[in-house]
Amino acid sequence: MLLKKSAFLSVFLMIALLFVFSFSALAQDGEVEVFSWWTGGGEEEGLNALIELYNEEYPDVEFINATVAGGAGSNAKAVLKTRMVGGNPPDSFQVHGGAELIDTYVKTGMMQPITGLLEEWGVKDKFNQQILELSSYEGEIYAVPVNVHRGNVLFYNMEVLNEHGIDAPTNMYDFINTLKELDEAGVVPLALGDKNKWTATHVFEAVMVGTLGADKYNSLWEGSTSLDDPGIYQAFAYFNEMMNYVNEDHAGNTWQDASRMVYDGEAAFNIMGDWAEGYFKSNMGWTPGEDFGWMEVPGTRGTFMVVNDTFGLPEGAPNPENAKRWLKTIASREGQDTFNPIKGSIPARVDGDKSKYDPYLTDSMEDFASNTLTPSIAHGSAAPEGFITALNDNINSLITDNDVDRAVERFKQDFEEYVE
Ligand code: GAL
Repeated sequence: MLLKKSAFLSVFLMIALLFVFSFSALAQDGEVEVFSWWTGGGEEEGLNALIELYNEEYPDVEFINATVAGGAGSNAKAVLKTRMVGGNPPDSFQVHGGAELIDTYVKTGMMQPITGLLEEWGVKDKFNQQILELSSYEGEIYAVPVNVHRGNVLFYNMEVLNEHGIDAPTNMYDFINTLKELDEAGVVPLALGDKNKWTATHVFEAVMVGTLGADKYNSLWEGSTSLDDPGIYQAFAYFNEMMNYVNEDHAGNTWQDASRMVYDGEAAFNIMGDWAEGYFKSNMGWTPGEDFGWMEVPGTRGTFMVVNDTFGLPEGAPNPENAKRWLKTIASREGQDTFNPIKGSIPARVDGDKSKYDPYLTDSMEDFASNTLTPSIAHGSAAPEGFITALNDNINSLITDNDVDRAVERFKQDFEEYVE
């Protein structure tokens, strides 16, 4: 009898515990801390729209928007790494699909696989599989791709080009001649803000994908394109020449400052990822196709340089249930169609509602569907962190010393050290 009583008691206790656990798992309160570098210039507006959507669905969860300013995560990435390594992860964080996510956080055991969650939510098959692949490792998915930005875009002030009777150039040779013409006319031909070094690397990689061609660029990362390929030398040579036509104060400016120069009509062109279109539109009130024009960076037609933001679930996330709700929100069609039209990116899902996207973005969607996709170096997908830092320094030195031979040699050495 005594035995029966204690058995009954432990079953009762187990049921009670189960109830408490499942209740706390389902409880929609507490907080969620989401870390990113989206602090302004169209980026913040996009993030805020997502936060609003999350708040609508989970009104009792306090959303902690943890941001560290600095384009492309120039400051945020180091802060995040310290937190992750120190065992103090946020509940979810912005990270580029590809090497940045996989090498830095997945292979080191700092992320939880979320394949099962995506299946449970019925969204796994809704993503572009090439993009989802960037968040996958050894058969598991580790992050939700929230967008696809395009890196190889040349934006221009339509009025400035009209005023000077200039047609948007289609190859690098014509582009450099156009820059020369604008320079002679007293306009800053190409706006640059490389206070954070990545912006110059961003321009460089767009030039290199053109001089190498998309296929050779892609096989570079698989080790099957020779480092002696003339396309590599040519990229450094073109880049070096282009730097004769940038604003003098480039080293003190950010990507937003450079975009503003185009907006103000002080500069004609800007090579930037299409978060600049988010900035023109959401921040400056410009209309695509009326105020600003765009084309792929000359020489890169048919190539789409992918910049892909993702969010995952760190091991030891303090509020995992709320973090999963965040992931579910950004993985949903509504989430992607809320965020991307403002951010200046296209959905990573294949079923985005095209009517929500402006002419620039629908153009981008079409190119994305038909072009060869190439992963960005500057934005963490193609190569390991060590190589990116080395390339940033190399490009930065080239802007100062104009020594193309030296830069090419260093590129080869860095590649052998960090990539091969
Ligand atoms: C990229 C990121 C974009 C945008 C940009 C400028 O690395 O993927 O979403 O934030 O930096 O900050």
